[in-house]
Amino acid sequence: MCGIVGIVGITNTVPRMMEALHRLEYRGYDSAGVATLHGGELHRCRAVGKIAALDSKLVDQPIKGDIGIGHTRWATHGEAVEVNAHPHMADGLAVVHNGIIENFASLKKELIENGHNFEGETDTEVVAHLISEYLARGLAPKDAVFETLKRIEGAFALAIIIKNENERIFAARRGSPLVVGMGKGENYLGSDAIALASLSNKLIYLEEGDWAEISREAVTVFDMTGAVVTRPVTYSQVSNTFADKGNYRHFMQKEIFEQPFILAQTIGKYFDQTGGGVKLPAGDFDFANVSKVTIIACGTSYYAALVAKFWLEKMARISVEVDIASEFRYRDPVYTEGGLAIFISQSGETADTLAALKHAKAAGQSILSILNAEESSMSRESDMVFPIYAGPEIGVASTKAFTCQLIVLAALATEIARARGKLDEAGVVSAINSVGEIPKLVADVLSNHKGIEKIAHKIAKARDILFVGRGLHSAIAMEGALKLKEISYIHAEGYAAGELKHGPIALIDENVPVIGLAPHNELFDKTVSNLQEIMARQGQVIVISDHDPSAVGSNGEDLMSFKMPKCDDIASPIVYAVPVQLLAYYAAVEKGTDADQPRNLAKSVTVE
Ligand code: M6R
Repeated sequence: MCGIVGIVGITNTVPRMMEALHRLEYRGYDSAGVATLHGGELHRCRAVGKIAALDSKLVDQPIKGDIGIGHTRWATHGEAVEVNAHPHMADGLAVVHNGIIENFASLKKELIENGHNFEGETDTEVVAHLISEYLARGLAPKDAVFETLKRIEGAFALAIIIKNENERIFAARRGSPLVVGMGKGENYLGSDAIALASLSNKLIYLEEGDWAEISREAVTVFDMTGAVVTRPVTYSQVSNTFADKGNYRHFMQKEIFEQPFILAQTIGKYFDQTGGGVKLPAGDFDFANVSKVTIIACGTSYYAALVAKFWLEKMARISVEVDIASEFRYRDPVYTEGGLAIFISQSGETADTLAALKHAKAAGQSILSILNAEESSMSRESDMVFPIYAGPEIGVASTKAFTCQLIVLAALATEIARARGKLDEAGVVSAINSVGEIPKLVADVLSNHKGIEKIAHKIAKARDILFVGRGLHSAIAMEGALKLKEISYIHAEGYAAGELKHGPIALIDENVPVIGLAPHNELFDKTVSNLQEIMARQGQVIVISDHDPSAVGSNGEDLMSFKMPKCDDIASPIVYAVPVQLLAYYAAVEKGTDADQPRNLAKSVTVE
C-alpha cells in the first residue's frame, strides 16, 4: 500500500506532486505529505487524512522546490497521526516508503544507542536515521544510501532527498514496485504508471533489488551489488484523465450501475456472438493438456475464483484447487507437471497474489493472470494476461471488476471444456447465448433498485447479518457479506447454507437478518430447508430469488424478498452479485459511511 511520487524538476514540483498523489490515493488515505529541496534546504508539509487535507494545509503553509518527494499512507506501523506521516526526516534528509522494514526494531535500538531521536513509531523512520548515521560517519550520499540498503530487510520502495543534493533523488525497490518516468530536462519517480500518467509515459520499471540515482538529465540504475545495469524503457498506455462520478453520488454507485454496459463490452472481447466461438488472448497455449488448475486470489477476486471452480469442474471436468494468496505459498503447495496457475486481481499489484504468482512460476507452472490493470507487476510476470476491461474502478469495494472477472472466467471455462472435449459446438453456442443475456438481466435487477433500497433500510440497524446460498451462490453469499462489512461496517458473514447448522445457527435470533440467495435451480429445495431452519429460530429471512417467496415459507408474516429474473448457471452468479452490491451500497448510504473510501482499507494492497 502507500503511494510514492518524486520529481527532479526545473519548476516547482509541489502542484504536480499533489496531482500525482490524488491519482495514488487508491493506495491509502490515512495521511499524506510532501518534502522539497529549495535553496539547498529541506521543507516538509504533512497532514492526517485524505489528500484533500494536505491540499488545504499547503494553502496555509505553502512549500516549494524543484526537487520533491510525496507520499500517501496506509498505516502499517504506527497510528495515522502526523508524526507517523511520511516524509520522515533525520538530519537533513527526507524519506518516503511503501512496504515494511522487517528488522526495524533491532535497527531502531542500535540507532537510539548511537544517539538518534525518533519522532514516531513507523518502521520507515529507521531508514532516514540509518542514512543520516552513515552520512555523519563521512560517507558520500550515494554510499550512505547503498550501505543502508544492505542493512534493511523486508519489502520496500523508497525515495530519498538529501539536503544540498539539489541534483538528485535516490530510489530503491525490493518487493514493492517503483517506476522511473523520463521527461525533458526532468525525471520522475512513482509507485506505478498511474502516478506518472500526467508526467511521462516513457518508463523504466526498476527490477527486484534495483536502486537508482535520478537527476534532471540522467537515470542511473544499480543492481543489488552496486553495479550499473540497463533496464528496458517501456511506453505506458495508462490514460491521464481522472475518472469522474458523473451524476452519481459515489463512484461505487456509478460502478454498480454501469455494469450492463461494461459487461457487454467485456463479453464482446471474449465471446463472438456471430458464430466465432470463444476468443482468448492465450496464443497457442494448449488448454487440452492442462493437468490441473490452481486459482489464487484475495478478497473479492478470491470469490470469483470460487465461482470459477464450480464452472471448471462442472463444464470441463478438470480438478481445480482454489486458495487465498496470503496462505498459498506458506503451506508448501503440491504442483503437478503441466499445471496451470491462474491469478485473479483487479489491481495486478496485490502483494500476496504477486508473491504466490512468483512461487508458482518458480515451480514451473504456466501462469495466467486475469487483471483489470493491464500494466501491472502481475502482467509483467505472467505467461498469459486476460484483461477484464472493466475500466478504472475507483470505489474501494470491488463491484464491476468482480462481474467482469466472472465473464472472463466463464470464457476460460467454456474454452477449456471445449478443448478437453467436454463441450461440443452446440454447448459452446449455448454458453455464448447465455452470457449474451447477462447485460439485460443485470439491467433488469438495477431497474428494480428501489426494492433493495427498502431492504437496506430495514437491515442497516442490525449488528450482525448472515448471507447464505448453496452451490455457486455460496460464493456470492460470501461476496455479499464482504461487501456489506467493508463499506457499512455491519458485521456480516457469508456461508454455504448447509453449513449453518454446524455452528453459525447459534447466532440466529430475531435480531439477525439472514439474506438467502435462492435461485430456482436444482438446489432450491435444499436452500429452502436451510432457510426454514433459520425461520424456526426467529431469524429474519430475506429472500433473493426468481421464485415465489411464499415457497420459502413465512414467519407468520410475508417474507421480505427481492424478485430476480430467471437465469442459468453461467449467468446466475453474475446477476445475483448485483443485488448484494446494491444492498451493501444502500446500507452504507443509510449509515452515512464513506462508501468509496471506507475506513482502514485501500484499493491496492501492496503489503503482505
Ligand atoms: O486488486 P485485487 O483484486 O488483487 O484485490 C484483492 C482484494 O484486496 C479486493 O478484492 C478487496 O477484497 C476488495 N476491497 C473487496 O471489495
